Amino acid sequence: MKKIKIGSVGLGRLGYEHACNIANLVPGAELTSLCDVDAVRVKEVAAELNVPYTYTDVTEMVKNPELDAIVIVSPSMYHADHIKLALDAGKHVFCDKPLDTTIEKCKQAERAVEAHPDKVFMLGFMRRFDDSYAEAKHRIENGEIGKVVLVRSYTQDPRTTIEGTLKFAPHSGGQFLDMCVHDIDLIRWFTGSDIKKVWGLGGVFEFDLYRELNDADNAAAAVQCENGAMGFMFTNRTHGAGCNVETEIIGTHGTLRIANVGRKNLLQIVDGNGAREEYYPDFLSRWHQAYVNEIKEFVDCINQGRKPGVTVYDGTKVSQAAYRCKESFETGNLLEVAD
Ligand SMILES: NC(=O)c1ccc[n+]([C@@H]2O[C@H](COP(=O)([O-])OP(=O)(O)OC[C@H]3O[C@@H](n4cnc5c(N)ncnc54)[C@H](O)[C@@H]3O)[C@@H](O)[C@H]2O)c1
Repeated sequence: MKKIKIGSVGLGRLGYEHACNIANLVPGAELTSLCDVDAVRVKEVAAELNVPYTYTDVTEMVKNPELDAIVIVSPSMYHADHIKLALDAGKHVFCDKPLDTTIEKCKQAERAVEAHPDKVFMLGFMRRFDDSYAEAKHRIENGEIGKVVLVRSYTQDPRTTIEGTLKFAPHSGGQFLDMCVHDIDLIRWFTGSDIKKVWGLGGVFEFDLYRELNDADNAAAAVQCENGAMGFMFTNRTHGAGCNVETEIIGTHGTLRIANVGRKNLLQIVDGNGAREEYYPDFLSRWHQAYVNEIKEFVDCINQGRKPGVTVYDGTKVSQAAYRCKESFETGNLLEVAD
Protein backbone atom coordinates (compact mmCIF):
# COMPACT_ATOMS: atom_id res chain seq x y z
CA MET A 1 0.00 0.00 0.00
CA LYS A 2 1.16 3.54 -0.84
CA LYS A 3 2.67 5.42 2.08
CA ILE A 4 0.76 8.53 3.13
CA LYS A 5 3.06 11.54 2.88
CA ILE A 6 2.59 13.79 5.86
CA GLY A 7 3.61 17.36 6.67
CA SER A 8 3.50 18.31 10.34
CA VAL A 9 3.10 21.85 11.66
CA GLY A 10 4.26 22.91 15.14
CA LEU A 11 7.34 21.33 16.73
CA GLY A 12 6.84 22.13 20.39
CA ARG A 13 6.20 19.68 23.25
CA LEU A 14 3.60 17.57 21.45
CA GLY A 15 4.56 18.46 17.86
CA TYR A 16 7.98 16.89 18.33
CA GLU A 17 6.38 13.72 19.75
CA HIS A 18 4.02 13.43 16.75
CA ALA A 19 6.87 14.13 14.31
CA CYS A 20 9.02 11.37 15.86
CA ASN A 21 6.09 8.95 15.89
CA ILE A 22 5.17 9.60 12.25
CA ALA A 23 8.81 9.29 11.18
CA ASN A 24 9.53 6.09 13.12
CA LEU A 25 6.44 4.30 14.40
CA VAL A 26 3.63 4.56 11.84
CA PRO A 27 4.44 2.07 9.06
CA GLY A 28 1.86 3.45 6.59
CA ALA A 29 3.17 7.00 6.82
CA GLU A 30 6.17 8.98 5.70
CA LEU A 31 7.09 12.31 7.29
CA THR A 32 8.26 14.43 4.34
CA SER A 33 7.65 18.02 5.52
CA LEU A 34 7.96 20.00 8.71
CA CYS A 35 6.84 23.51 9.56
CA ASP A 36 7.47 25.77 12.55
CA VAL A 37 7.80 29.55 12.81
CA ASP A 38 11.07 28.87 14.61
CA ALA A 39 13.47 28.42 11.66
CA VAL A 40 16.26 26.95 13.79
CA ARG A 41 13.96 24.39 15.41
CA VAL A 42 12.52 23.21 12.10
CA LYS A 43 15.98 22.63 10.57
CA GLU A 44 17.18 20.87 13.72
CA VAL A 45 14.25 18.41 13.83
CA ALA A 46 14.35 17.89 10.04
CA ALA A 47 18.03 16.91 10.27
CA GLU A 48 17.34 14.56 13.18
CA LEU A 49 14.40 12.81 11.48
CA ASN A 50 15.72 12.99 7.92
CA VAL A 51 12.84 15.10 6.58
CA PRO A 52 13.49 16.66 3.14
CA TYR A 53 11.20 19.73 3.12
CA THR A 54 11.10 22.47 5.76
CA TYR A 55 8.93 25.57 6.07
CA THR A 56 8.38 28.46 8.46
CA ASP A 57 4.97 29.30 6.97
CA VAL A 58 2.19 26.72 6.81
CA THR A 59 0.67 28.55 3.79
CA GLU A 60 3.76 27.48 1.85
CA MET A 61 3.86 23.93 3.21
CA VAL A 62 0.29 23.10 2.14
CA LYS A 63 1.23 23.99 -1.48
CA ASN A 64 3.65 21.04 -1.60
CA PRO A 65 2.01 18.76 -4.22
CA GLU A 66 3.65 15.62 -2.82
CA LEU A 67 1.83 15.89 0.51
CA ASP A 68 -1.31 13.81 1.16
CA ALA A 69 -1.99 14.98 4.69
CA ILE A 70 -1.21 17.64 7.28
CA VAL A 71 -0.87 17.05 11.02
CA ILE A 72 -1.58 20.22 13.01
CA VAL A 73 0.15 20.66 16.35
CA SER A 74 0.50 24.43 16.30
CA PRO A 75 -0.83 26.58 19.19
CA SER A 76 -4.56 26.09 19.70
CA MET A 77 -5.59 29.57 18.46
CA TYR A 78 -4.31 28.76 14.95
CA HIS A 79 -6.04 25.40 14.56
CA ALA A 80 -9.14 26.47 12.61
CA ASP A 81 -7.06 28.62 10.23
CA HIS A 82 -4.57 25.83 9.63
CA ILE A 83 -7.38 23.28 9.14
CA LYS A 84 -8.98 25.45 6.45
CA LEU A 85 -5.66 26.14 4.70
CA ALA A 86 -4.82 22.44 4.56
CA LEU A 87 -8.26 21.22 3.47
CA ASP A 88 -8.57 23.94 0.81
CA ALA A 89 -5.18 22.80 -0.52
CA GLY A 90 -6.63 19.28 -0.93
CA LYS A 91 -4.97 17.60 2.06
CA HIS A 92 -6.38 15.24 4.67
CA VAL A 93 -6.11 16.75 8.14
CA PHE A 94 -5.34 15.52 11.64
CA CYS A 95 -5.57 18.33 14.21
CA ASP A 96 -4.65 18.02 17.86
CA LYS A 97 -7.11 19.16 20.50
CA PRO A 98 -8.74 21.59 21.12
CA LEU A 99 -10.48 22.36 17.82
CA ASP A 100 -9.71 26.06 18.45
CA THR A 101 -9.98 28.55 21.29
CA THR A 102 -13.30 30.23 20.39
CA ILE A 103 -16.65 28.76 19.36
CA GLU A 104 -16.68 31.02 16.30
CA LYS A 105 -13.39 29.48 15.16
CA CYS A 106 -14.73 25.97 15.88
CA LYS A 107 -17.68 26.72 13.60
CA GLN A 108 -15.24 27.97 10.97
CA ALA A 109 -13.46 24.60 11.21
CA GLU A 110 -16.82 22.79 10.83
CA ARG A 111 -17.54 24.74 7.62
CA ALA A 112 -14.09 23.93 6.23
CA VAL A 113 -14.58 20.20 6.93
CA GLU A 114 -18.10 20.25 5.43
CA ALA A 115 -16.72 21.91 2.26
CA HIS A 116 -14.37 18.92 1.74
CA PRO A 117 -16.43 15.75 2.35
CA ASP A 118 -13.93 13.67 0.33
CA LYS A 119 -11.15 14.44 2.82
CA VAL A 120 -10.47 12.75 6.14
CA PHE A 121 -10.58 15.09 9.12
CA MET A 122 -9.70 13.79 12.57
CA LEU A 123 -9.38 15.54 15.92
CA GLY A 124 -6.78 14.34 18.43
CA PHE A 125 -8.69 13.18 21.48
CA MET A 126 -6.01 10.56 22.06
CA ARG A 127 -7.43 9.05 25.27
CA ARG A 128 -9.92 7.20 23.08
CA PHE A 129 -6.90 5.38 21.58
CA ASP A 130 -5.40 4.28 24.89
CA ASP A 131 -5.95 0.52 25.35
CA SER A 132 -7.63 0.83 28.79
CA TYR A 133 -10.01 3.60 27.69
CA ALA A 134 -10.83 1.77 24.44
CA GLU A 135 -11.62 -1.40 26.38
CA ALA A 136 -13.85 0.50 28.82
CA LYS A 137 -15.81 1.93 25.88
CA HIS A 138 -16.12 -1.55 24.34
CA ARG A 139 -17.47 -3.02 27.60
CA ILE A 140 -19.98 -0.17 27.96
CA GLU A 141 -21.18 -0.74 24.40
CA ASN A 142 -21.53 -4.45 25.22
CA GLY A 143 -23.91 -3.45 28.02
CA GLU A 144 -21.65 -4.90 30.71
CA ILE A 145 -22.26 -2.12 33.26
CA GLY A 146 -25.82 -1.27 32.25
CA LYS A 147 -26.69 2.40 31.84
CA VAL A 148 -23.87 4.84 32.56
CA VAL A 149 -24.83 6.97 35.56
CA LEU A 150 -21.61 8.84 36.42
CA VAL A 151 -18.20 9.49 34.88
CA ARG A 152 -15.53 10.84 37.22
CA SER A 153 -12.29 11.93 35.61
CA TYR A 154 -9.10 13.48 37.03
CA THR A 155 -6.31 15.03 34.96
CA GLN A 156 -3.28 16.04 36.99
CA ASP A 157 -0.07 17.44 35.54
CA PRO A 158 3.09 17.18 37.61
CA ARG A 159 4.69 20.19 39.23
CA THR A 160 7.98 19.14 37.61
CA THR A 161 6.73 20.35 34.18
CA ILE A 162 5.34 23.64 35.49
CA GLU A 163 7.91 25.81 33.68
CA GLY A 164 6.70 24.76 30.20
CA THR A 165 3.08 24.81 31.38
CA LEU A 166 3.34 28.43 32.57
CA LYS A 167 4.86 29.49 29.24
CA PHE A 168 2.03 27.78 27.39
CA ALA A 169 -0.72 29.11 29.73
CA PRO A 170 -1.40 32.55 28.15
CA HIS A 171 -2.32 31.05 24.76
CA SER A 172 -3.83 27.76 26.00
CA GLY A 173 -7.43 28.99 26.33
CA GLY A 174 -7.41 28.22 30.09
CA GLN A 175 -7.67 25.04 32.21
CA PHE A 176 -11.18 24.13 31.12
CA LEU A 177 -10.41 24.47 27.43
CA ASP A 178 -6.90 23.10 27.58
CA MET A 179 -7.04 20.30 30.20
CA CYS A 180 -10.70 19.53 30.89
CA VAL A 181 -11.49 19.06 27.19
CA HIS A 182 -10.09 15.54 27.55
CA ASP A 183 -12.39 14.78 30.50
CA ILE A 184 -15.37 16.39 28.77
CA ASP A 185 -14.66 14.26 25.71
CA LEU A 186 -14.58 11.13 27.90
CA ILE A 187 -17.85 12.08 29.64
CA ARG A 188 -19.61 12.59 26.27
CA TRP A 189 -18.05 9.42 24.82
CA PHE A 190 -18.80 7.11 27.75
CA THR A 191 -22.33 8.44 28.42
CA GLY A 192 -23.16 8.75 24.71
CA SER A 193 -24.77 12.09 25.48
CA ASP A 194 -24.10 15.81 25.14
CA ILE A 195 -23.55 17.95 28.19
CA LYS A 196 -26.56 20.01 29.27
CA LYS A 197 -25.58 21.81 32.50
CA VAL A 198 -22.26 22.72 34.08
CA TRP A 199 -21.00 24.09 37.35
CA GLY A 200 -17.34 25.12 37.24
CA LEU A 201 -15.22 25.62 40.35
CA GLY A 202 -11.59 26.36 41.03
CA GLY A 203 -8.94 28.57 42.52
CA VAL A 204 -5.35 29.68 42.46
CA PHE A 205 -3.52 27.74 45.14
CA GLU A 206 0.03 28.40 44.08
CA PHE A 207 0.82 29.98 40.69
CA ASP A 208 -0.21 33.66 40.56
CA LEU A 209 0.04 33.80 36.78
CA TYR A 210 -3.30 31.95 36.64
CA ARG A 211 -4.93 34.75 38.67
CA GLU A 212 -3.65 37.30 36.11
CA LEU A 213 -5.15 35.13 33.37
CA ASN A 214 -8.49 34.92 35.21
CA ASP A 215 -7.90 31.19 35.43
CA ALA A 216 -7.22 28.53 38.10
CA ASP A 217 -4.30 26.21 38.79
CA ASN A 218 -6.75 23.74 40.35
CA ALA A 219 -10.18 23.46 38.74
CA ALA A 220 -13.21 21.19 38.84
CA ALA A 221 -16.64 20.93 37.27
CA ALA A 222 -19.81 18.98 37.93
CA VAL A 223 -21.92 18.41 34.84
CA GLN A 224 -25.20 16.79 33.85
CA CYS A 225 -25.78 15.29 30.42
CA GLU A 226 -28.87 15.52 28.20
CA ASN A 227 -29.72 11.88 29.08
CA GLY A 228 -29.45 12.57 32.84
CA ALA A 229 -26.03 10.98 33.39
CA MET A 230 -23.63 12.94 35.60
CA GLY A 231 -19.97 13.82 35.34
CA PHE A 232 -17.31 15.19 37.62
CA MET A 233 -13.89 16.36 36.53
CA PHE A 234 -10.89 17.69 38.38
CA THR A 235 -7.69 19.08 36.94
CA ASN A 236 -4.55 20.59 38.36
CA ARG A 237 -1.03 21.64 37.52
CA THR A 238 0.46 20.86 40.91
CA HIS A 239 0.41 17.08 41.21
CA GLY A 240 3.20 15.89 43.48
CA ALA A 241 4.17 12.72 41.61
CA GLY A 242 4.13 12.62 37.83
CA CYS A 243 1.20 12.63 35.42
CA ASN A 244 -1.95 11.17 36.95
CA VAL A 245 -5.11 10.56 34.97
CA GLU A 246 -7.81 8.39 36.43
CA THR A 247 -11.36 7.74 35.40
CA GLU A 248 -14.27 5.87 36.95
CA ILE A 249 -17.46 4.98 35.13
CA ILE A 250 -20.37 3.95 37.32
CA GLY A 251 -23.22 2.11 35.63
CA THR A 252 -26.50 0.64 36.86
CA HIS A 253 -24.95 -2.89 36.81
CA GLY A 254 -21.27 -2.31 37.41
CA THR A 255 -18.31 0.02 37.62
CA LEU A 256 -15.23 0.41 35.45
CA ARG A 257 -12.11 2.05 36.83
CA ILE A 258 -9.09 3.16 34.92
CA ALA A 259 -7.41 4.16 38.11
CA ASN A 260 -3.90 4.94 39.15
CA VAL A 261 -2.89 5.08 35.49
CA GLY A 262 -0.08 7.41 36.47
CA ARG A 263 1.74 4.21 37.39
CA LYS A 264 4.60 3.69 34.94
CA ASN A 265 4.71 -0.10 35.17
CA LEU A 266 4.12 -2.94 37.62
CA LEU A 267 7.44 -2.49 39.38
CA GLN A 268 7.32 -1.99 43.12
CA ILE A 269 10.39 -0.41 44.71
CA VAL A 270 11.03 -1.26 48.34
CA ASP A 271 13.71 0.65 50.19
CA GLY A 272 14.33 2.67 53.33
CA ASN A 273 11.38 4.97 52.44
CA GLY A 274 8.90 2.08 52.24
CA ALA A 275 7.26 0.52 49.16
CA ARG A 276 6.39 2.62 46.11
CA GLU A 277 5.53 2.55 42.40
CA GLU A 278 6.96 5.10 39.98
CA TYR A 279 4.66 7.42 38.05
CA TYR A 280 4.92 8.42 34.41
CA PRO A 281 6.92 11.65 34.66
CA ASP A 282 4.77 13.60 32.16
CA PHE A 283 1.84 13.41 29.75
CA LEU A 284 4.10 12.54 26.83
CA SER A 285 5.26 9.28 28.41
CA ARG A 286 1.79 8.45 29.80
CA TRP A 287 0.07 8.79 26.41
CA HIS A 288 2.91 7.81 24.07
CA GLN A 289 1.18 4.71 22.69
CA ALA A 290 -2.17 6.53 22.37
CA TYR A 291 -0.46 9.27 20.29
CA VAL A 292 0.98 6.57 18.00
CA ASN A 293 -2.36 4.74 17.79
CA GLU A 294 -4.35 7.85 16.84
CA ILE A 295 -2.01 8.68 13.93
CA LYS A 296 -2.18 5.04 12.78
CA GLU A 297 -5.98 5.34 12.81
CA PHE A 298 -5.78 8.59 10.80
CA VAL A 299 -3.56 6.91 8.18
CA ASP A 300 -5.82 3.82 8.08
CA CYS A 301 -8.86 6.04 7.54
CA ILE A 302 -7.16 7.70 4.55
CA ASN A 303 -6.11 4.36 3.06
CA GLN A 304 -9.48 2.72 3.61
CA GLY A 305 -11.63 5.75 2.68
CA ARG A 306 -13.22 5.69 6.18
CA LYS A 307 -14.25 8.57 8.43
CA PRO A 308 -12.75 8.61 11.95
CA GLY A 309 -14.94 8.21 15.05
CA VAL A 310 -13.79 11.57 16.44
CA THR A 311 -15.40 14.32 14.38
CA VAL A 312 -15.15 18.07 14.03
CA TYR A 313 -18.55 18.30 15.76
CA ASP A 314 -17.13 16.51 18.82
CA GLY A 315 -14.54 19.28 18.90
CA THR A 316 -17.17 22.04 18.89
CA LYS A 317 -19.44 20.33 21.45
CA VAL A 318 -16.53 19.75 23.82
CA SER A 319 -15.35 23.36 23.44
CA GLN A 320 -18.88 24.68 24.04
CA ALA A 321 -19.10 22.73 27.32
CA ALA A 322 -15.56 23.81 28.29
CA TYR A 323 -16.40 27.47 27.71
CA ARG A 324 -19.51 27.22 29.82
CA CYS A 325 -17.44 25.60 32.60
CA LYS A 326 -15.06 28.56 32.41
CA GLU A 327 -17.94 31.05 32.50
CA SER A 328 -19.52 29.18 35.39
CA PHE A 329 -16.19 29.23 37.28
CA GLU A 330 -15.94 32.99 36.67
CA THR A 331 -19.54 33.82 37.68
CA GLY A 332 -20.28 31.07 40.20
CA ASN A 333 -23.50 30.21 38.34
CA LEU A 334 -24.83 26.84 37.25
CA LEU A 335 -25.12 27.21 33.45
CA GLU A 336 -26.91 25.48 30.59
CA VAL A 337 -24.79 24.57 27.54
CA ALA A 338 -26.73 26.10 24.69
CA ASP A 339 -25.78 25.67 21.03
N1 LIG B 1 -3.56 15.81 23.09
C1 LIG B 1 -2.75 16.16 24.08
O1 LIG B 1 -2.57 15.45 25.05
C2 LIG B 1 -1.99 17.44 23.98
C3 LIG B 1 -0.89 17.66 24.82
C4 LIG B 1 -0.16 18.84 24.65
C5 LIG B 1 -0.52 19.76 23.69
N2 LIG B 1 -1.62 19.52 22.91
C6 LIG B 1 -2.04 20.50 21.90
O2 LIG B 1 -1.01 20.59 20.90
C7 LIG B 1 -0.89 21.94 20.47
C8 LIG B 1 0.58 22.38 20.67
O3 LIG B 1 0.88 22.29 22.04
P1 LIG B 1 2.39 22.23 22.57
O4 LIG B 1 2.30 21.92 23.98
O5 LIG B 1 3.21 21.37 21.67
O6 LIG B 1 2.80 23.78 22.36
P2 LIG B 1 4.24 24.45 22.36
O7 LIG B 1 4.01 25.85 22.76
O8 LIG B 1 5.21 23.60 23.10
O9 LIG B 1 4.67 24.39 20.82
C9 LIG B 1 4.06 25.11 19.79
C10 LIG B 1 5.01 25.12 18.58
O10 LIG B 1 4.31 25.72 17.49
C11 LIG B 1 5.20 26.70 16.88
N3 LIG B 1 4.34 27.71 16.26
C12 LIG B 1 3.78 28.80 16.83
N4 LIG B 1 3.03 29.46 15.91
C13 LIG B 1 3.13 28.76 14.76
C14 LIG B 1 2.60 28.95 13.45
N5 LIG B 1 1.79 29.97 13.17
N6 LIG B 1 2.94 28.07 12.49
C15 LIG B 1 3.77 27.04 12.77
N7 LIG B 1 4.30 26.79 13.98
C16 LIG B 1 3.97 27.64 14.97
C17 LIG B 1 6.07 27.20 18.02
O11 LIG B 1 7.26 27.78 17.53
C18 LIG B 1 6.28 25.93 18.83
O12 LIG B 1 7.40 25.20 18.36
C19 LIG B 1 -1.87 22.76 21.30
O13 LIG B 1 -3.03 22.95 20.54
C20 LIG B 1 -2.19 21.87 22.49
O14 LIG B 1 -3.49 22.05 23.01
C21 LIG B 1 -2.35 18.39 23.03
